[in-house]
Amino acid sequence: MLTGKQIVIGVTGGIAAYRAAELVRLFVKAGAQVHVVMTSAATEFVTPLTFQTLSGNPVHIDLFNLISEREIGHITLADRADVIVVAPCTANLVGKIASGLADNLLTTTIMATRAPVLLVPAMNSNMWDNPIYQSNQARLVEWGYHFVEPVSGLLACGWQGKGKMAEPEDVFEETVRLLAPADLAGETILMTAGPTREELDPVRYLSNYSSGKMGYALARAARRRGARVILVSGPTCLEPPGGVTFIKVTSAEQMRKAVLENLSQCSVVIKAAAVADYRPAERAMRKIKKGKQEQMQLNLVKNPDILAEIGKAKKGQLVVGFAAETHDLEAHALRKLESKDLDLIVANDVSRPQAGFEVDTNLVRLYYRNGESEQWPLMNKFEVADRLLDCVIRLRCSTPVQREEGQ
Ligand code: PMT
Repeated sequence: MLTGKQIVIGVTGGIAAYRAAELVRLFVKAGAQVHVVMTSAATEFVTPLTFQTLSGNPVHIDLFNLISEREIGHITLADRADVIVVAPCTANLVGKIASGLADNLLTTTIMATRAPVLLVPAMNSNMWDNPIYQSNQARLVEWGYHFVEPVSGLLACGWQGKGKMAEPEDVFEETVRLLAPADLAGETILMTAGPTREELDPVRYLSNYSSGKMGYALARAARRRGARVILVSGPTCLEPPGGVTFIKVTSAEQMRKAVLENLSQCSVVIKAAAVADYRPAERAMRKIKKGKQEQMQLNLVKNPDILAEIGKAKKGQLVVGFAAETHDLEAHALRKLESKDLDLIVANDVSRPQAGFEVDTNLVRLYYRNGESEQWPLMNKFEVADRLLDCVIRLRCSTPVQREEGQ
């Protein structure tokens, strides 16, 4: 995902310095070349050898190291970086950058770069609240520096409050977002993901095997590419991607309400959720007890077809559906494309072991309104998501959206 990207990671002197090691590992795993620059205070917390081992590259500390100056130097580091991430970032470093100070290798590199700079502060909660710090951060935001703000929790100093460094996974995600093309900026995309659960009694429900992986991959990819994302999700075990508006639902009725309420502010809708077509006609208030009878009949009633309703209610939105099929893939997919008035349908043959529900990969065939279709090879769901968003961009170029008054 980050193959070919050069990432400079600055580590400053705070107890959270050890968490930068995890961040380096995540970037290296994603294929990036990582160059670590430590302040001398940071070396009091973690040894440079840790970062050298994890990054596979020499660690830079001194501004006036003769070998570094000849072979790399702060200007070379600054030029080479696709992005600079400082994690953890002390109040001192934020203050220095805001004051234009360049008195060590890290501040000099930051001053000299044209790459985006992402600062990940971690500090005592009183320092965080200090108006001097806040005004320094606000100035940097104004100048185009990016931040992943600290979270609340028990701090190393024993205080409880805001100041704990954000999770390395969230910093990774934000960095990927900064590096991705912002080709979906300006779009608001409504995604649905996961299964719905249709309750039978307080302890039982009807549902399906959807894990939410496909829909969450789409939400993450769209967010990375600059879209505003509203993710309406049935119950899953997944963490919602950072930066998306997350609406958690359980039943098809709840999903319908959330989708229709948000439809008018969206330019694109992608429905990867596996919605139950039927629900129990009645939900028992108490647990249904086992009786003497050998058989039992359940009365089911039809759920609303949310996608078909969107097809009727849409005002210029581009609408993409998914079709989960076990047989006659093409015939079923084409019927759904037509009857739900979709622009595009992504059909997956869920009888294939590496496609559809629960697995990390998918094998899909796309059917367009103009009769065209494309078969894609087996891919990771993240790759499917990115490629599908490329199709959305192509289609959007020819589909103007009519927003409702006041939106
Ligand atoms: O979540 P994962 O484990 O990653 O699995 C991914 C997936 C298999 C769930 C996904 O790739 C997929 O195929 N999603 C659609 C599943 C589905 O419900 O297909 P369908 O053929 O039954 O429905 C067709 C379309 O109508 C879907 O976009 C569905 O969201 C929508 N629909 C269906 C019924 C209904 N009552 N309302 C709807 O909006």
